[in-house]
Order: sequence, then structure tokens, then C-alpha cells
Amino acid sequence: MNIIVKVLQILLLSYGFPIAAQDTQPEIEIANPSAMFLQQQRALPPAEVIARGETLYQVNCRLCHGPDLRGGDQGGSNLLRSDVVLIDIAGESIGEVITEGRGSMPIFDNFSNEDIAAIAGYIHSIKFESEGQGSTPPVDYDLDILVGDAAAGERYFDRECATCHSVTGDLSGIATRIPNDYIMQNTWVAGGRRQAGRGGVQTTVIVTTQGGETVAGRLLRYDDFFVSLRTEDGTYQSFSRRGGSPQVDLDDPLYRHRELWSELRDSDIHDVTAYLETIK
Ligand code: HEC
Ligand code: HEC
Repeated sequence: MNIIVKVLQILLLSYGFPIAAQDTQPEIEIANPSAMFLQQQRALPPAEVIARGETLYQVNCRLCHGPDLRGGDQGGSNLLRSDVVLIDIAGESIGEVITEGRGSMPIFDNFSNEDIAAIAGYIHSIKFESEGQGSTPPVDYDLDILVGDAAAGERYFDRECATCHSVTGDLSGIATRIPNDYIMQNTWVAGGRRQAGRGGVQTTVIVTTQGGETVAGRLLRYDDFFVSLRTEDGTYQSFSRRGGSPQVDLDDPLYRHRELWSELRDSDIHDVTAYLETIK
């Protein structure tokens, strides 16, 4: 076996197990240890998880890392050549970059562990197809995002968006205000451009402990195992969760946008973008 692969495996195993012992991380599994390349040794998640990861990637990462992961318009690095991607098994390393940011890459503090595992699964699925490190995967990409049907997009908008937005009110002139198609698409899908330290709407949370103490603040992270927040005076607080305890009450103005991430089909995304592009 390739000696580099072997060394990397040893590194992976020695880093992997302590990580796996924490319950916040997915199980780490080397599915095909005898495969030639590291990217073929991982277990890929099921197709529907990869598809969801692809949608999340296209919406949140593509602008910077490119439609084919090789780097994009806004200066993201080539993920096919990334060591972080290479050593990641199931989102544990990629997830760290996503949730903590890196250089000019913004922090994404609203993905669940499942979202992160899906994005990682998608990235690995592309690497899985490539033959050596960093070579181009044999996948065709559609570079033009303005391929939707604006009339269908308008119907979708009236049905799914008009309860909160209006193209003559808060979204009037959106295509003029955000002239870049990709940024416009990212903005409407995500419900704004969230960046580390930037203003915009925030999710607030109230945690009520078993003893009846309440702590309120801005939500930083929420999943099956932890809820963490920053209180108004800047203090960081984190609670482990077990069953329904402590009680967590979220006020998330963007909840509908988060739900949309998993509901939107590619055609819906294209159609709504085509429609919003007419709102000059
Ligand atoms: C605004 C642009 C931008 C967006 C959006 C963005 N990234 Fe990045 N990303 C970068 C830049 C720039 C770097 C290189 C940072 C550095 O090392 O200084 C980077 C680095 C990374 C790395 C580490 C690469 C390495 O080997 O060091 C990973 C993994 C990554 N991004 C994944 C993602 C994923 C997944 C998303 C979407 C959820 C995403 N990025 C969204 C700009 C972006
Ligand atoms: C349940 C309410 C709700 C629904 C439904 C909803 N959104 Fe939003 N959306 C929001 C909130 C809240 C914001 C954040 C507003 C802010 O930043 O002030 C937002 C932000 C946005 C933004 C960014 C606005 C800006 O000025 O940059 C766009 C664009 C957008 N939504 C488009 C859509 C589209 C398109 C749909 C339907 C597919 C949709 N929204 C569905 C609540 C909703």
C-alpha cells in the first residue's frame, strides 16, 4: 500500500478516536481501508444526504469555492487540494472551519451537525470521483444560474414568501441592490448575508435550567447535545442537553429560511432567482 496513505491513516486514527469519543461528532469510520486514495476510503453518506449537502454547498459555499470546488469568484481556496478536506472523514475537520471561520471565510453559526455532515459528504462525493489528489472530477456543472422560469418563480414566491415579504415593499429593487446573481441567490435562500460580527437578524434563545434559572442571549450553537449562547454583556455560556433539559426557547426570525434549505429543489431555486432578477 502507498506509504503516504498509510501514514495519513495512522494520523487519522490517532486524531480520530478522541474526536469520536465526544458525542457531538459523527461516528468516524474508514469504510474502504484498502482503497488506493484517501478520498476513496471514506464511507459516503446516502444519496439523499449528498444531494442535500450539494444544495447547502451551492447556496453557501459556491460563490467563494466555486461550482466545482476549485475556488471561485470571491477568493475561496481550492477544496480539492485542501488538507482539511483530505483528512476529514465525516465533517469533523470541515465542520471546524465552517463553524469557526478561517481568514476571510465567514463563520456559519447556524448549521446543524447534520447540515455539516451533509456538506462534507457532498465534498467527499466529488473527491471520491477524482482520480488523484486535486485533479478535476468528471462532473458537468451548469455555470449559468439564470436558467429558471420567472413566472414559476413568481408563483412560488406568492405561495411561500409573500407572507413575510413583498416585491414592492422590503424586497423592492432587490436585483438592483444586489447586482451579482450569485450573491442575490445566496441572499434570498439564506435570508440575508450572514457574516461573522455583522449585524442583521439574530436568533435569540432563552435557556431555563432544571432549577428554574433562566439565561437569555444570542444563539451561537444548538444541536441535540449542546446549546450555547452569548448574553448581552458578552458572556459565553454553554449547556449540555439531555432529553428535554434544560428547556430551550428559540426565537429565530429566519426559521423559515432554514426550513427552506432542505425543502427547496434546484428548480425552485432557479425559478425564484429568475423571478427576483426581474425586480429591478
Ligand atoms: C466569503 C467567501 C467564503 C465562503 C462563503 C466560504 N468560504 Fe471556505 N474559505 C474561504 C477562504 C478565503 C478560505 C481560505 C482561508 C485561509 O486559509 O485563510 C476558506 C477555507 C476553507 C476551508 C479550508 C481549506 C484549507 O485547506 O485550508 C474549507 C474546508 C472551507 N473553506 C469550506 C467551506 C464551506 C464548506 C463553505 C460553505 C459552508 C465555505 N467554505 C464558505 C472563503 C469562503
Ligand atoms: C416566515 C417569514 C419568512 C418567509 C416565509 C420567508 N422569509 Fe425571507 N426573510 C425573513 C426574515 C425575518 C429575513 C431577515 C430580514 C432582515 O434581515 O431584516 C428574511 C430575509 C430575506 C431576504 C434578504 C433581504 C435583504 O434585504 O437582504 C431575502 C431576499 C428573502 N428573505 C427572500 C425570501 C424568499 C424569496 C422567500 C420565499 C422562498 C422568503 N424570503 C421566505 C422571513 C421570511
